[in-house]
Amino acid sequence: MTLLLYPLYFSTMRVLLTAGPTYEPIDPVRFIGNHSTGKMGYALAEAFAATGAEVMLISGPTSLPDPASPLITTTRVQTAAEMYAAAATAAPTADIWVFAAAVADYRPREVAPNKIKKDGDTLTLELVKNVDIAGTLGQTKRAEQFSVGFALETNDEETHARGKLQRKNFDLIVLNSLRDSGAGFRHDTNKVTLLDTAGQKTIFELKPKAAVAHDIVRTVLASLSLRNA
Ligand code: CTP
Ligand code: CA
Repeated sequence: MTLLLYPLYFSTMRVLLTAGPTYEPIDPVRFIGNHSTGKMGYALAEAFAATGAEVMLISGPTSLPDPASPLITTTRVQTAAEMYAAAATAAPTADIWVFAAAVADYRPREVAPNKIKKDGDTLTLELVKNVDIAGTLGQTKRAEQFSVGFALETNDEETHARGKLQRKNFDLIVLNSLRDSGAGFRHDTNKVTLLDTAGQKTIFELKPKAAVAHDIVRTVLASLSLRNA
């Protein structure tokens, strides 16, 4: 009976999903950003929508079009502060949070009002830490909500990812290792390992990002159905 009702239950689910990079302005023409394309996050939005869930996609600047599904609402932001504001508004009403964005860790303390001229031989920018979107919202997570984080690591991958799982109050973390060829930025494929709070570890093969997204969605569904059993 539970199994039969499950798809109906899930169809009312709401998902908050952050995706893409953030751009932190230096002056009117320059910014600090990163190589995130948003592909993994957008693939996740499509995969959740394919299950009937409503997706609130909060996207940093990407070259991807807004997903066409009527179940996906896309909000475009530039900075980490804007992404946080949009995510904080959506978070209380969402059943599942997925933090796939590559948020800039720091931003320039001052944004120059005019284009900075190359007057000196060196230029020093003072950077200040951005809000940790996942970590801050993690402190407000209710027992029935489910939070998924990402970690892109180059060394001591599992230790770093497990630390983030705990610190940010995630229920599941998707670990990407840059040591795996074909994984990470600028690829249409990804190779991930999923780690959960029960200590479970699932290693997936290298596959297209759309297939990785379905693996992640299936894992979230399975965890939620176990929780609600
Ligand atoms: N994240 C976030 N807000 C930030 C930084 C990260 O929401 N300001 C989220 C990311 O979307 C990801 C997770 O936190 O789901 C881990 O991001 P990561 O950059 O790996 O972690 P950091 O805590 O920033 O640690 P570091 O970059 O030093 O490894
Ligand atoms: Ca970071």
